[in-house]
Parts: sequence; C-alpha cells; structure tokens
Amino acid sequence: MSASSDLDTTAETPGDSGTPPPEKRASRKSSSLECYGSLYGSSPAMRELYEHIERVAATDATALIVGESGTGKELIARTIHERSARKDAPFVAVNCGAIPDNLIEAELFGHERGSFTGAVQGRAGYFEHANGGTLFLDEVTEMAPIRQVKLLRALETGTFFRVGGTDELQSDVRVIAATNRDPLVAVKENGLREDLMYRLAVFPLRAPPLREREGDRELLAQHFLDEMNAQENTSKVFSKRALDTLRTYSWPGNVREMKNAVYRAFILAEKTIEIEHPRLASRAKKAVTQGDAMSVWVGTPLADAQKQIILGTLKFCGGDKRRAAKALGVSLKTLYNRLGSYEDKEDTSASEE
Ligand SMILES: Nc1ncnc2c1ncn2[C@@H]1O[C@H](COP(=O)(O)OP(=O)(O)O)[C@@H](O)[C@H]1O
Ligand SMILES: [Mg+2]
Repeated sequence: MSASSDLDTTAETPGDSGTPPPEKRASRKSSSLECYGSLYGSSPAMRELYEHIERVAATDATALIVGESGTGKELIARTIHERSARKDAPFVAVNCGAIPDNLIEAELFGHERGSFTGAVQGRAGYFEHANGGTLFLDEVTEMAPIRQVKLLRALETGTFFRVGGTDELQSDVRVIAATNRDPLVAVKENGLREDLMYRLAVFPLRAPPLREREGDRELLAQHFLDEMNAQENTSKVFSKRALDTLRTYSWPGNVREMKNAVYRAFILAEKTIEIEHPRLASRAKKAVTQGDAMSVWVGTPLADAQKQIILGTLKFCGGDKRRAAKALGVSLKTLYNRLGSYEDKEDTSASEE
C-alpha cells in the first residue's frame, strides 16, 4: 500500500468555507436534524460537542478526539478546521495506523534525497503540506513509541528535520489527533507515551457513540436516505419496521455501520426500504425445526416465538388447521385470526410456512 494514499488534502469549495452558525444551517433541513459544519445531529450529546468545537476552533490548541470507530472523528476534525481561522489553508488527514512503522517519520516530516534506499528524490512530509492549516493524525496511538518522540518534539518546538536532513524546518500547523482507545489505557497497555498523550489532549473531545445520541438515529437515517434519493432521483421510503430497527438497534459500528446499512437496503429496495434488526436476522437464520421438535433462541421476542410455534405446528400437521389448533390448545377461530394477522404483515414469507 502506498503511504501517500493516506494524504488527503481538502480543496475546499468556496461555499463550504464560511460555515454559518448551526441555527442557520439547521433551517436548510425540513426535519429537526441540526447541521453543524460537516456534522449532523440534534441530540443533547451532539449539541454539547458543537459547543466544545466552537470553543476549540477559535484557538490554536491541539485537540485529541476520543471515540469509537464510526462516530465521526474525522468529521469533527474537519469541522474544527472549517470553523477556525485556518479554514482557507489545507486540511491534511493522515491515518497513522495505516502507515508502516519504518515509513511514518518520512511521511510526517519528509525526507532528503538518498536518505534511505529508494529515496531518489527529496520529498516534503505532511507537516510541510499542512503549513498554515490543520494536520489530522488519526489512530495516533498506533505509532511506535520511538516515533512518538519525534512527533512530541515537533509539537513542542514547532520545528523538525526531514529524514536525512540537516536543516531545521518550521511549519505553522495545528494538530488534531484521534483515537478509538481510551488514552489512559493506551498509555498503560498500548505504548502511547504519557507525555505525548498530555501534549495532544490539551483540549480533549469525546465523539459520542450513536446509542447515546437520543433521537438522532432516525433523523440521521432519514438524512442519508434523502441524500440517496436526491442522488438517484428516486423517492424511496423506510417501512415502519425499518424505522423501528433504526431506532432500537444499538449500532455498535455507529454512524458508519448505520449509513452502510441504509445504503445497502436502499439499493435492494424498489420503493419501500426494509432494514431487518441485525440480531433478529441472525437468530431467524439459526431457528431449527427437527421433526416434531423446534428450538427457539433465547431472547426471541414473544410474538416472534409464538409465530414460529404456530407456523411450525401447522407445518407439522400437514396444513390441517383443525389438528394444529387442537395441538396448540386454541380454538380454530383463534388460529385463523393469528394466521390472518401474519398475512397482513408484509414479513410473512412463504419460507416460514
Ligand atoms: N455526525 C455525523 N453526521 C453525518 N455523518 C456522519 C456523522 N458521524 C459520522 N458520519 C459518517 O460516518 C462515517 C464515519 O465517519 P468517520 O469520521 O470516518 O468516523 P471515525 O473516524 O470516527 O471512524 C463517514 O461516512 C461519515 O460521513
Ligand atoms: Mg476514522
């Protein structure tokens, strides 16, 4: 993998640079979904984050964003940049975890010609590329401790050397770092240097996981759907069940997982988008019927368990409803009512019967 593919210099579009305050951007959306810089969300957790971003963006302080994968750490970094005085200079994002250890120093600080095998030409590093702007160091805890010393020095003095170089270089860079590990645990267990951790965490920010973002799940999902509809010139809608899933599933992969689930379901749908609860989907696949025995998974919602038992018994009775009702200890009328209600629901599939 070429390490330079991790270089991501944003060419800001003129419309993006003067980001108006959240209230103004929010009015762009018809629902109550608020938008702040590149971030969407109206939950108290996100509002608090916007306030912190607003404060840190007005300064040049180094910030450390801590949060689970997929919570939008890179978007937070971009938003700080967009709302800072550096907004017209480059935003350079580097994934430290994706660069081989022996290359990271050259990638960050550049190298001089002949400094190592294959270095046929001198090259500037990310610190030089980001001059005047913001350098985003993602997965910073993945850097080997020996490399962290050089980074700490650059942060403290604002100066550095290219690999193999003798000239001390200077770059006016604001550093924002991110990690999905608890920084204190990373210091104890993963080789993050304590001095670097404190230097980075001058202003710590927490990216809230989606399960803590009250009310944001449906609004965000609807926002992603609106975007896809606009892009594809369609008018697809979520089914009621899909909305329930979006609202009740915990989304361990956070916004990234939910966005991908919406995207996949959007592609599969003609008009109405179905998103099955991932836990139920996996259980449903594992449901086992063997002769006259059936196993129902622990945690199956009662209504689903009842449906499985009714349909399984009917199948076992060769479709004879009178016999099935007798076996289940209910009246024939009750059985008809239940079967009728399953037919009404779009999820009654032939394979279950
Ligand atoms: N608050 C948010 N509003 C809109 N999109 C978001 C938000 N948070 C995350 N995303 C989207 O989720 C995906 C993951 O975001 P990213 O910033 O890469 O997460 P992380 O760096 O924390 O793993 C991206 O596609 C991003 O656009
Ligand atoms: Mg990331």
